[in-house]
Amino acid sequence: RKRILSGIQPTGTFTLGNYIGAVRNWAKLQDEFDCLYMVADLHALTVRQVPAELRRHTREAAAMLLAAGIDPKQSLLFVQSHVPAHTQLNWIFCCNSQFGELSRMTQFKDKSAKHPDNVNGGLFTYPALMAADILIYNADLVPVGQDQTQHLELARNIAQRFNNAYSPTFTLPEGYVTKEGAKIMSLAEPTRKMSKSDTNQNSFVLMTDDKDAILRKFKRAVTDSEGVVRYAPAEKPGVSNLMCIYNVFTGKEMAEIEREFEGKGYGDFKQAVGETVADALAPIQGEYNRILADTAYVDGILTEGAAGASRLADRMIQKVYKKVGLLQL
Ligand code: TYM
Repeated sequence: RKRILSGIQPTGTFTLGNYIGAVRNWAKLQDEFDCLYMVADLHALTVRQVPAELRRHTREAAAMLLAAGIDPKQSLLFVQSHVPAHTQLNWIFCCNSQFGELSRMTQFKDKSAKHPDNVNGGLFTYPALMAADILIYNADLVPVGQDQTQHLELARNIAQRFNNAYSPTFTLPEGYVTKEGAKIMSLAEPTRKMSKSDTNQNSFVLMTDDKDAILRKFKRAVTDSEGVVRYAPAEKPGVSNLMCIYNVFTGKEMAEIEREFEGKGYGDFKQAVGETVADALAPIQGEYNRILADTAYVDGILTEGAAGASRLADRMIQKVYKKVGLLQL
């Protein structure tokens, strides 16, 4: 069976963008593939974190993944820092990636512009760690949103380079990026991606938002003055983004959505999108609260996940250490 790995940072509660772009697909892939899903706590350290909050967010992330349908009987769910081999391979990859290629990463450029006071080494070498996350398991497929595809391309380059320099070692991973919802935009500024680090609370929907908050945020979503529900991402980014979200949860095609709201105002449309999202999130929220209340259960799953992942990862790091010439006794 083909293998899947993906990860998410515990930098706060997940947004609707995280869910639509990535997590929603993770659960679906479990029947067909061997899946490893990871809370990327080490990646979160590239921006300053309050220690107690990072710990809390890490458990919450695990609980949310379980609530969103990750089945610990089928898949390995673990925390990145619990599998030290990721960090070990990261070093090897840091020494096999170039300043130039890391400098070209758009996320590095964006984040260093946003936090000029903390352009740290980890932020710069982040894609090498992400490559290690993927390649240490020889993952075939990586389900991510569009913003991670450049990092994935770098992982392929690192794998290929290593294979050429030493001997065939790593599988070249493919991205699994869905056509719909690979980039959910901010509700306040629909030309930017929806992000939990946005300072404007109305720009994103959180997975834990209650119905009132969800309806309110969609009601305030920025659209345009045309007043026609029509799919045209370049011209009408706000409306098109809402249509995209509606499409994901209803399965209705764009033309069908256009017909449904023909002659109706944006008010009706936004209300319908808000209701649909709230209804879709309600059962996940119920599960989330139930699971999160049982810390021992969550920790038990993460302990097992880390053990399972470590078995695979430790074998690979030994192989790599040997290939690059580190002395083994
Ligand atoms: P992170 O935590 O920023 O996001 C987790 C996943 O959510 C997707 N995503 C979105 N998709 C659609 N629309 C949006 N607005 C949106 N915002 C976020 C992301 O593309 C991602 O798939 N570096 C990764 C975590 C990571 C990882 C890995 C992923 C660490 N190691 C190995 C895959 C494989 C990150 O920061 O994702």
